[in-house]
Amino acid sequence: MAFRGSEIISKNLRVDGHRLVGRIEELAQIGGLEGGGVCRLAFSDEDKQAREKVVRWMTDLGLDIVIDRFGNTVGIRAGQEEGPPVMMGSHIDTVETGGSYDGALGVLAGLEVIETLNDANIGTRYPIAVAFFSNEEGCRFQPDMMGSCVFTGVLSHEEASKAVAPDGTTIADELERREIGGSANPGDLKARAFLELHVEQGPIMEAENLQIGVVEGVQGISWSEINLKGVSNHAGTTPMHLRHDAGFVAAEIATYVRKLARDIGGGQVATVGVIELHPSQINVVADQAKMTVDLRNLDENLLLQAEHKLEQYAAQSAKNEGVDIEISRLARFQPTPFDTGVINLVAKTAENMGFGIKRMSSGAGHDAQILAPSCPTGMIFVPSRGGKSHNIEEYTDPDEIAAGANVLLGVALELAE
Ligand code: GLV
Ligand code: MN
Ligand code: MN
Repeated sequence: MAFRGSEIISKNLRVDGHRLVGRIEELAQIGGLEGGGVCRLAFSDEDKQAREKVVRWMTDLGLDIVIDRFGNTVGIRAGQEEGPPVMMGSHIDTVETGGSYDGALGVLAGLEVIETLNDANIGTRYPIAVAFFSNEEGCRFQPDMMGSCVFTGVLSHEEASKAVAPDGTTIADELERREIGGSANPGDLKARAFLELHVEQGPIMEAENLQIGVVEGVQGISWSEINLKGVSNHAGTTPMHLRHDAGFVAAEIATYVRKLARDIGGGQVATVGVIELHPSQINVVADQAKMTVDLRNLDENLLLQAEHKLEQYAAQSAKNEGVDIEISRLARFQPTPFDTGVINLVAKTAENMGFGIKRMSSGAGHDAQILAPSCPTGMIFVPSRGGKSHNIEEYTDPDEIAAGANVLLGVALELAE
């Protein structure tokens, strides 16, 4: 039976929210942390276990599985016609102190959409698929959204596989050791359209009591690593004016980064997430500092301006202290608008279901922004309690999860006709 997405309200077709939440909770057991939360870093043992579980679920739903050499995995449900599938998906890796929903929701809601269609014996004109992309988080290996970059050809498999973790392991090592990659070539599979359901990871929807965020685009992201080299010396005997203190320069830069965001204003955000000092002892001036800076803005020109100001300030601060400085770019993504047709379809579908909506942009990076240049793409947000994400307390209410999955169902069905 073929069935248009716009008809699902009258036909009363709905996902089983309870089943979806059950899968989210089951997946969260893998890499589950004491006290809550999940640690499932990309290409780790836990990532491997989670991949196997999701592939088993895909197989149980009768999907054809395609895994590329980088581990990007797609389960496809055939349509009445051949051709690229309408793809839903996200990622199943997490940050070290992650929650159960970031990424997992978009993948498991995709499975729930397919199971709902299977149960109701509903066929679609075009194939529908669910994908999870490798290493979206980019915590262990940079850049983030790496799997979707390989999937779309933005980054080659060979280049991405060279990425090195802090412990010296490369992705190539991990792909081989854990047998994560499949036989498909990245890029062989294209999407007709791409849809990502995700938790908002911010406070806006909860504050405004909204059920569905209609995502219009994702802000640009710039990640830098700054390495400082000074001279280690005795904390008691070295006069202040004779120091070459890498720790002091790191602290100056960290303080400046906050001022930079305030000066640029608007939506500019700036974060120093890592500062490591060496030798890190109470009575020793640090000879080395490694720090990271995450800059984001919806406006590419302002983001360029922020990068430039940071580089200028950091170079001057290092020079003043007589410390060597090296700045390297770990990731750079331009702001990405989504497809107007998909944005409007998400809005209309959610409104027809009676949900309160808001058109908004995404502060976090997502695989959808990487797919966007290659096919019509959109995202659906559901609220995050307390606005918390990349935090073990990340939580979204089961009713809100079901609402998001129902909108995903409606939009996917419409796009597959
Ligand atoms: C990815 O989750 C990011 O926005 O950092
Ligand atoms: Mn995510
Ligand atoms: Mn994340």
